[in-house]
Amino acid sequence: MRVIEIIHTIAKMQSYADQSRGKGNIIVFVPTMGYLHAGHLSLMQEGLKHGDDLVVSIFINPTQFGPGEDLDAYPRDLERDIELVRKEGTKALFTPEAKEIYGSHYQTYVALDKLPDHLCGISRPIHFRGVATVVAKLFNIVKPHIAVFGQKDYQQLIVIRQMVKDLNFDINIIGAPIVREPDGIAMSSRNSYLTPRQRICALSLYESLLNARRLVESGEKDAVKIIAAASDLIKSHPETTIDYIAVCDSETLDEVQIIEQPVLMALAVKVGTTRLIDNMILKP
Ligand code: PAJ
Repeated sequence: MRVIEIIHTIAKMQSYADQSRGKGNIIVFVPTMGYLHAGHLSLMQEGLKHGDDLVVSIFINPTQFGPGEDLDAYPRDLERDIELVRKEGTKALFTPEAKEIYGSHYQTYVALDKLPDHLCGISRPIHFRGVATVVAKLFNIVKPHIAVFGQKDYQQLIVIRQMVKDLNFDINIIGAPIVREPDGIAMSSRNSYLTPRQRICALSLYESLLNARRLVESGEKDAVKIIAAASDLIKSHPETTIDYIAVCDSETLDEVQIIEQPVLMALAVKVGTTRLIDNMILKP
């Protein structure tokens, strides 16, 4: 049976990391908020191709949730998560309390200038500040050589890459592909909020991306038309409210009007009260 160390304090995690580095290990880190699914596990499997000491964190980070968002309702099942990460070959699981990460009078944040002014950052104005801050802190606590993030949260991945570059973190960031359910819906801890009826409506996110891909592959270059087609498809399902549908440059996230090279199509849709995101690279 594989042994896993469950670590709750920053001091213990840092000393674990120092010892592991001292033995010459390559530390690979997968940060998560728990309630793990196959998407999370794929990041761990990818990580182990690049290093030998896999460390996972489970921390529902309060600073990335805005007022009225689902911080309190966010699903949790630590016992099940521990079993899952253990089976993946994780050597240490870091799962601190919020007060361990944000002590009293906490006041330092990492905020990016431009990337958060797009896509999810518009309706979630403090989200990426919270993400960048906690990931920077986790990097200083876990001291990884490599960290793996999913392309499911595409904007998050490029925010982290930019932060690592700007702040000179000596960490290699790996992006891993979106893992989907057999019917195509992107795996997400938040899918557990959906009723069976909403689950069917939620499929329209992926269907609209597939439809956009078909349009672009058959020569459509006008982003307005592609967005309109996606919007019509999603709106034809009950209980859906579109937050945004965007076609944009995959590095700057600036909007693209005419598609002449690969672009990112990203969308966020509320199904009932559950906010879901998905994305795809479209290649003309
Ligand atoms: P969480 O939503 O738990 O996701 C943890 C990691 O799993 C992220 O890198 C995310 O992109 C990836 N992931 C989620 N669903 C995926 C899927 N279907 N396929 C592939 N990868 C998937 O993202 C966060 O937590 C937090 O913002 C965090 C980075 C931990 C900072 O608090």
